[in-house]
Amino acid sequence: MNTPNQNIKPITTKINSNGNIEIGGCDLAELANKYGTPLYIYDEQTIRSITKSYKDAFKNYPMVNMMFAAKAFMTKSICKIMRQEGFGLDLCSGGEIYTAKAAGFDMTKALFNGNNKSYDDILLAIKCDIGTISVDNFFELALLNNVAKSENKSIRILLRITPGIECHTHEYIQTGHLDSKFGFDLTQIDEAIELIKDEYKNLNLIGLHAHIGSQIFETKVYNDEIDVIFKEIKRIKEKHGIILKEVNLGGGLGIKYTEKDNPISIYDFADVITNAIDTYSKQYEIEKPVIFIEPGRSIVGTAGVTIYTAGSSKQVPHGRKYFAVDGGMSDNARPSLYQAEYTVEIANKANDTTQEEVTIAGKHCESGDILAKDIKLPIIEEGDIICFYTTGAYGYSMSSNYNRVLKPAAVLVNNGKSDIIINRQSYEQLCESDVIPERLN
Ligand SMILES: Cc1ncc(COP(=O)(O)O)c(C=O)c1O
Repeated sequence: MNTPNQNIKPITTKINSNGNIEIGGCDLAELANKYGTPLYIYDEQTIRSITKSYKDAFKNYPMVNMMFAAKAFMTKSICKIMRQEGFGLDLCSGGEIYTAKAAGFDMTKALFNGNNKSYDDILLAIKCDIGTISVDNFFELALLNNVAKSENKSIRILLRITPGIECHTHEYIQTGHLDSKFGFDLTQIDEAIELIKDEYKNLNLIGLHAHIGSQIFETKVYNDEIDVIFKEIKRIKEKHGIILKEVNLGGGLGIKYTEKDNPISIYDFADVITNAIDTYSKQYEIEKPVIFIEPGRSIVGTAGVTIYTAGSSKQVPHGRKYFAVDGGMSDNARPSLYQAEYTVEIANKANDTTQEEVTIAGKHCESGDILAKDIKLPIIEEGDIICFYTTGAYGYSMSSNYNRVLKPAAVLVNNGKSDIIINRQSYEQLCESDVIPERLN
């Protein structure tokens, strides 16, 4: 069965009678008029359809905790939606923990990840009664135990391991290969367990965690990941007499940015995981564990689009035609960071069949600030509304104020209604943290 991560557009996308693109029953040109551009637009039905697909796909394996990887898109509203959908949260900073707590999220359903959690991050997590912490390294084991001891708490922990699996995705978003900044090497696990047993009495080791990468299209890597983890669980049981009952498999399921991408469905993802659990629990004679999965991109990526207004243009003599939009690398770092490609349309010219090759540039003082290179679009005119699909993940969450450009607003659309979920940043907010020392006055 096809799932929304296999489509480029949100499930409610249509062309309306004005010849404009409509998402969630809202005309994108009207949204541009009402809220200004750049604007992030999230289709609530697509998000909920994806969370439902995840739940349905895993219904035969009831011991799965679905955790939304908040790094993909974190706001208070998304926390509310995730809770309503029965998802927990995978959080990776004090700021994400604070946001979830401020949204009234049940923090016992949250998990804390990261490779350099600070004392303050850990204290905040413990004070919020976070459900589980995934420990990344020896430094953190000691720090976490100290904080837990001073708070008189016992903390459920997973050990994050690097399983040595290389997936075919961009180097910057591979994480499970051996030379990675994340997690314990398998050869370090015995030492970590001895420390937990002998010294770190406030840590309760319940399982292992791995995350092999992001924007993954293959199934075999998940099978291999489960093989490595279950084998390690058997080894730990034999060597230390400890039975680990929980396993976090990370996130990573890919989405379709352009026609070149061919991601697997959420059902195929669930099948490969549940089949591998069957196979390797038998092979290594271990009980089937409670599983965590922590998808981010596949939950919000397809649901989100960004609209811009076209501004200046430049025809290089005998070269490219550039059209610049009113945003760029500050609202979407992915093209300049790892050459990410997108599908683009003109929201107010959806039925226009003319085509020319253009390059869409951002407005930042950086030659690398190109959002889409050599794409075919109807002839663009100043004031047109340019829609970039699949920007829902790692767009807003990686946004910056480079060149002091303001961060855009975000709206949630559903059944013809649009609601602001992030206000457009103001110039006052931009300068709010700046301080002029007395001696400069
Ligand atoms: C530990 C961990 N879990 C989950 C995710 C989410 O991955 P994705 O958005 O590809 O599903 C990431 C992303 O980098 C991660 O580092």
